[in-house]
Amino acid sequence: MEVHDSVLELIGNTPIVRIHQFDTGPCTLYMKLESQNPGGSVKDRIGLQMIEDAERRGLLKPGGTLVEGTAGNTGLGLALVAAQKGYRLVLVIPDKMSREKISNLKAMGAEVVLTRSDVAKGHPEYYQDLAERLANEMDNAFFINQFGNPANPKAHEEGTGPEIWRQMDGKLDAIVVGVGSSGTITGLSHFFQREAPNVDIILADPVGSILEQYINHGNLDAKSASWLVEGIGEDFLPVISDFTHVTKAYAIPDSESFALGRELLMKESILGGSSTGTLLGAALRYCKEQTEPKNVLTFACDTGNRYLSKMYNDFWMRDQGFLEREEVGDLRDLIARPFASHDTVTVGPDEPLANAYTRMKLYDVSQLPVIENDQIVGILDESDLLLAVVGSPDCFDKPVSSAMVSDLNFIDVDEPVEKLLPIFEQDYVAIVRDGEEFLGLITRVDLLYHLRRKADC
Ligand SMILES: Cc1ncc(COP(=O)(O)O)c(C=O)c1O
Repeated sequence: MEVHDSVLELIGNTPIVRIHQFDTGPCTLYMKLESQNPGGSVKDRIGLQMIEDAERRGLLKPGGTLVEGTAGNTGLGLALVAAQKGYRLVLVIPDKMSREKISNLKAMGAEVVLTRSDVAKGHPEYYQDLAERLANEMDNAFFINQFGNPANPKAHEEGTGPEIWRQMDGKLDAIVVGVGSSGTITGLSHFFQREAPNVDIILADPVGSILEQYINHGNLDAKSASWLVEGIGEDFLPVISDFTHVTKAYAIPDSESFALGRELLMKESILGGSSTGTLLGAALRYCKEQTEPKNVLTFACDTGNRYLSKMYNDFWMRDQGFLEREEVGDLRDLIARPFASHDTVTVGPDEPLANAYTRMKLYDVSQLPVIENDQIVGILDESDLLLAVVGSPDCFDKPVSSAMVSDLNFIDVDEPVEKLLPIFEQDYVAIVRDGEEFLGLITRVDLLYHLRRKADC
């Protein structure tokens, strides 16, 4: 058994697996699982390199403080290395970032400074500028600055590149990679330019980023738009970037990235993040365009565990318009969580109120249908629950049946959408039935979502 002294020794040397279940034309496609790094992403590599580089250059002394502006994988990579080496880590995070990410970073010991996400570069509260200023104001502090730090591409030029070349035994024709800070693509470009200049370096870019046009047409005229894939895509050229060896770029829409990421999990059991879908999309296009057999490598840059409530959640996918549900042309189309497919969150009449409360919190819903023998026998909403328990905490032990409303008004599935409005005006939720069969609930939000989708068409 091989025993390691610390998790820092587990960074890098990530496995490469062959992709079998996708059409790769004449090519063979391989995926390097950066998701297997101890912090779950490729950024562990630069976390270690940038910190050790600052130590070597005397810019970081024992007990010092690291400061960076990021809520992403770089924050997690830095937090992992900082904890092992005993540094304080301050991360400046734009306030649009998810609570999960912030909790994760805090749990790893990072101090989080929230800042505005509605301001651009040059504004004093822009997260990068604020991080730099904080570092300047602190004693013995080092601003990591992944977008301008040469140790970032160096981690890939000296680590990832040689590692790939060794693992592939020199039998490699192309690498498909995305750009966040550009460290990976720049470092790999430098290594392969020197060691194996025939290896094609291909960019996978989300639609909306400026880079695809820059690589393919040499201009920066493209106006950046927004995209949902995380960790890659740019609206500016990072200081450390060198794209001179990148021969081709593919722009992949969010819809394709998410669909391919999910397909990768289904077909190859690889749980990658959203950008893994973008990289796979670009790699498949490149592979299919070839006329001769080639060995092509791409990456799972981070673990999909970070995206379970997004791209791996059907409701989120449907909300974003990435997953279509077959329309039947009646009120069924408005039921977000149909009862027949076991998606409705329910409670039984004999369960304690505590269960109802837990379920409401867990699924972020404010009412539950009460179900007995597949029939709806009541509704319990937050007000019913509150009235039942207020002043007497023991009441959480009482059965749901004691607090639910059982005098229910149903709406038939064939009724027109307009019939929902009087129900909502009375502050009720619509309980949809087809004859005697309970189909599910429709709330105001469901109607809004339905109307928004119709407006899109
Ligand atoms: C989630 C994620 N982070 C980072 C990167 C690459 O980042 P960088 O350009 O900062 O090396 C990728 C590349 O595909 C990525 O998918």
